Amino acid sequence: MLSYILIAVWLMLPAYVANATAVLCGGGEPVDRGKTMQDGRRVLGDGKTYRGLFGGIFAGTITGIAQIEIIIHIPYVVPSALTLSMFPVYVPLLMATGAMLGDMGASFLKRRAGFERGKMFPVLDQLDFVAGAFILTYPVASDWFVESFTPQILLTVIIITPILHVFSNIVGYLIGKKKVPW
Ligand code: CTP
Ligand code: MG
Repeated sequence: MLSYILIAVWLMLPAYVANATAVLCGGGEPVDRGKTMQDGRRVLGDGKTYRGLFGGIFAGTITGIAQIEIIIHIPYVVPSALTLSMFPVYVPLLMATGAMLGDMGASFLKRRAGFERGKMFPVLDQLDFVAGAFILTYPVASDWFVESFTPQILLTVIIITPILHVFSNIVGYLIGKKKVPW
């Protein structure tokens, strides 16, 4: 049970870090540059910025590369279950980029559904970036993906991600980085 959680967090870390970093360093020019669509609503909204997008991809990728370096050079500092789930070097980039695209995709859908920026959309808000990370990573690294994300680990990811998301958003709200605590 504990090892499932450890493995799930380890595998998801580039995506988790990307998502958290986007919140921490977000701001400035929005990705949609303020454009609206025929429905009169913003394409993505002010909550999706270039700083968040690239900051998230960068931090998530660096995190995954650090994980790989740890397994290569100091494997004894991590539980042995984790050293088995070594990822190819391009996986962190895919996971982090996919996470950011998934998050943006969800904002696009939220705007089309008439939800204002920041309005809560349960499940979608918590799992959009997981879906994005998987959709981008699976086709490129399918052997690694199937080996690493066993059904048990996938289930663990789906259970723990919303819990971690809720907690980290409350922290983000308390430190003034999020306007709403979700
Ligand atoms: N953020 C950003 N750029 C991104 C993703 C996130 O700048 N690509 C920052 C924004 O400051 C955003 C905050 O992180 O307000 C929280 O992200 P999220 O909850 O995904 O955005 P919301 O503001 O809730 O907007 P939406 O309704 O579109 O989800
Ligand atoms: Mg939100």
